[in-house]
Amino acid sequence: MRPLVPALLVLLAFPAAADDKKPKPSTKPPVVAKEAVRDDQSLGRPEYLSDLARQILRRRMERHGRDMIHLMTGVVLLRREVVQTIAQELAREPRITRPLPDARDELNSALPERFFVLQDELRDRAKALEEAAKTRNDKELGESFARLTQTCVACHSAFLAPKGTEPQ
Ligand code: HEC
Repeated sequence: MRPLVPALLVLLAFPAAADDKKPKPSTKPPVVAKEAVRDDQSLGRPEYLSDLARQILRRRMERHGRDMIHLMTGVVLLRREVVQTIAQELAREPRITRPLPDARDELNSALPERFFVLQDELRDRAKALEEAAKTRNDKELGESFARLTQTCVACHSAFLAPKGTEPQ
């Protein structure tokens, strides 16, 4: 179990730390440095998003990154209450709403429909994970965690990493 957590920490937390404005940390873990082909170490910059949209999303995503680490540990070690709490928070997180037809809301209008679909999917899958933890269904606990993770990957693949071989 132990080695998994630092690995995920590197994957999830390190890119978030690589803020464009800050100078790059000189002590990069060699594995990350090798795999990150892009120069800024982050998942990528969705060019179509406004600065405001990016700021709001980034804050939310950094939280998701932290949640994910605790969720993974919770699922693997069957800490059902931890899983239930985090999954519930994820499911209840206020969603970015679809733009109204005549809305001038910068954030909402900057996002494509697929984004909202995946956002809803994330909520549904977080709910399923919460339920599995609550009902102590361990098979479903593992599977619903996997499905939740697929949604994270799907959204990042769709919007952040055009290099993927199989777009979601
Ligand atoms: C509906 C789409 C969507 C879903 C679902 C989603 N993300 Fe993201 N994620 C984004 C976008 C867009 C960004 C880039 C934000 C930006 O411009 O900085 C991002 C960025 C991130 C980052 C920062 C990466 C970097 O480059 O520094 C982390 C960490 C992250 N997401 C974790 C998660 C986790 C964990 C999940 C699942 C629990 C998740 N995300 C689900 C859209 C999504």
